[in-house]
Amino acid sequence: MTAPVLRLTRLCKSFGALRVTDDVSLEVGARELHAIIGPNGAGKTTLVHQISGLASSDSGRSMDARARAGLIRSFQLVSILPSFSALENVALAVQARRGASFRFVGRANAETALNDAAMAMLSRFGLAARADFTAGLMSHGEKRQLELAIAMAAEPKLLLLDEPLAGTSHEESARITATLKELKRELPIILVEHDMEAVFALADRVSVLVYGRIIASGSPDEVRHDPEVRSAYLGDEAEEAMA
Ligand SMILES: Nc1ncnc2c1ncn2[C@@H]1O[C@H](COP(=O)(O)OP(=O)(O)OP(=O)(O)O)[C@@H](O)[C@H]1O
Ligand SMILES: [Mg+2]
Repeated sequence: MTAPVLRLTRLCKSFGALRVTDDVSLEVGARELHAIIGPNGAGKTTLVHQISGLASSDSGRSMDARARAGLIRSFQLVSILPSFSALENVALAVQARRGASFRFVGRANAETALNDAAMAMLSRFGLAARADFTAGLMSHGEKRQLELAIAMAAEPKLLLLDEPLAGTSHEESARITATLKELKRELPIILVEHDMEAVFALADRVSVLVYGRIIASGSPDEVRHDPEVRSAYLGDEAEEAMA
């Protein structure tokens, strides 16, 4: 791996007496999609929040606040504004990121430039035809694509995704998986996901979290053949996805 863009060192987090993440260390490389899998309640979402700074850590290190500001500022999926159009949702993200660079071109031109940039991002995610559609009325799969468009409009250095495939149909999930396959060529991604078919199709590395501890971390092949992983989590699920 080239120099990691993210390094977690021995992160811990407890809620009262419950230790939810326990001594978690992992690294994410520059062009790596690093999947974090594990059973319900394993601590995956908590770990995501620790990485983003949404939750504090009791001990251990992720990054200092400055590194986090540069790296992670805008990578997390924001929820969409349901009463705004798809285009407006993306335009707001573009403006938040690049508003200052539109300052010199005059009001009308700035608006055109903003809309052009937002439109380009929508097209990229297959939503050009939905530009003027009210975001809240889009299908579940389209909303997920829109969330990715909004996230990418913010020009993140790392994308952190917590179950982007949850609740999607098979078709929608295939669509989003294809999108993520493209995105991972561009930026590092941490993907928490229960859909093993997608995980094993996408991941460069997989870490398995069980009761807050990483019990295995390696290539998809290493992880899927790890006996401890199979008994703790994958079992039949893996056989099906791997067949
Ligand atoms: N704010 C909180 N206060 C108390 N307990 C919490 C809090 N957040 C999470 N927990 C507990 O921490 C444990 C891990 O939760 P977490 O949401 O991180 O799991 P997860 O791996 O994301 O699960 P899932 O796969 O179902 O999304 C659970 O037992 C949960 O009840
Ligand atoms: Mg979760």
